[in-house]
Amino acid sequence: MNHAEAGDGDWLPIADLKDLSEGINPVTIQATELVTIKKGDSLAVFAGRCLHQEAPMGQGILEENHLVCSKHLWRYRLDTGDLEGEPGIRLQKFECRIREQLLEIRQEAFDQLKATYASYDEDDDEDYVP
Ligand code: FES
Repeated sequence: MNHAEAGDGDWLPIADLKDLSEGINPVTIQATELVTIKKGDSLAVFAGRCLHQEAPMGQGILEENHLVCSKHLWRYRLDTGDLEGEPGIRLQKFECRIREQLLEIRQEAFDQLKATYASYDEDDDEDYVP
């Protein structure tokens, strides 16, 4: 399914609920990496690249209250996206909703992230390589 065609303009569908597993779910929409966290009935969506060196947060480690980058172990709070001990540094967390069994995020916020990643890719010859 092309989720990008099913939205209502302000919201962008990013995943079918039935496709999400408990824990960390990497999601790529329009070549832009996101990460969805499912813990029981709660869902959260974050930007998919670490703020340190752009390592994929989809390969991160899920702790009780944190999403931890597997590369150098930066720890982001699940409730806010704040880097532990550095509240001014925040992994983008998206407002989200469920509509007709689809998980959706705000289109405008997604567009901002997409533009940010595009600028990284233009300027940076040293993208993270696993
Ligand atoms: S790239 Fe994530 S902590 Fe370094």
